[in-house]
Amino acid sequence: MLLIASDHGGLELKQILVDYLQKRGIEINDLGVHADDSVDYPDYAARVAEPISKNEAQQGILVCGTGIGMSIAANKFPGVRAALAHDEFTAQMAREHNNANILVLGGRVLDPELACRMVSVWYEGNYEGGRHQNRLNKIIQLERQCGSDA
Ligand code: RB5
Repeated sequence: MLLIASDHGGLELKQILVDYLQKRGIEINDLGVHADDSVDYPDYAARVAEPISKNEAQQGILVCGTGIGMSIAANKFPGVRAALAHDEFTAQMAREHNNANILVLGGRVLDPELACRMVSVWYEGNYEGGRHQNRLNKIIQLERQCGSDA
């Protein structure tokens, strides 16, 4: 189950991604927004990041205007590795090196077709582990030092 949410700045791209993923037979849970009224992106970042942090879901996608606010907010949740990607290469690396459990996209900066390809390479990619796991372990260690434990 792939979670997805956006604010008003990411609504249009989110809808395109929902249609794209559903056509590919990927089960998704669309956690809003569903209208273009102005909302606060941290509320929607939490809808995806909190269940992932609690291990109630494994992966998600967040979209706001630039992707910046969503990535800042989502990364406050222990165990969340939210990666703001800009192109297919950064989306691929987000999976292969960072094992990002949330892909963050900017609805006002990305071409929708590119965004769909980015979602594909991230979702279908494989984490390489090895030396990258040592680095992720160090991030867990940093979370512990900061007083949160995933
Ligand atoms: C909303 O106008 C905009 O600030 C938001 O979508 C996002 O880009 C924040 O980082």
